[in-house]
Amino acid sequence: MSQPDAPTDTNTTSPMDRRLFCLSSLTAGVAMACGGGGGAASAPAAPAPVGGPLTTTDTKAGLLATPDGTARDYRNLGNFFLLKDATGIYAMTAVCTHLGCTVGLPSGSLILCPCHGSQYNLAGGNVVGPATQPLVHFSVAEASPGGVLMVNTAQTVPASTRLT
Ligand code: FES
Repeated sequence: MSQPDAPTDTNTTSPMDRRLFCLSSLTAGVAMACGGGGGAASAPAAPAPVGGPLTTTDTKAGLLATPDGTARDYRNLGNFFLLKDATGIYAMTAVCTHLGCTVGLPSGSLILCPCHGSQYNLAGGNVVGPATQPLVHFSVAEASPGGVLMVNTAQTVPASTRLT
């Protein structure tokens, strides 16, 4: 009496094989979704800059009367700072040039990025990495003579530009 031949179909997959495949796929998917693969730490997303002219609550005369190093925080308006130094008024982005985190409020002579430790001077110059580029400056103008200041985050200017 002969025994039935063992199945020879090599395309069949046992339930255990399917479970292992699904588990492997799930693990790989989760790893990819979580940024697996040894990438850099993810940076918190900075608020999206609002493009175009934005109206501040500061006036030229008022800001020029403040001490050098004064910084007004407009991160909630358009992710920028309005600053005053010995040569005048300027506006500068609060978006770190490394991976786009929002930097902290200027403190003393430095602006610090909380994500990976980059540091900038009050003119936006990069003094400590990993960022290698300076903070971008925006144009500043009075809305009307003697009126409030407008910052145009869609128009960049050289870092030496000042409103006087
Ligand atoms: S985003 Fe990396 S140091 Fe600012």
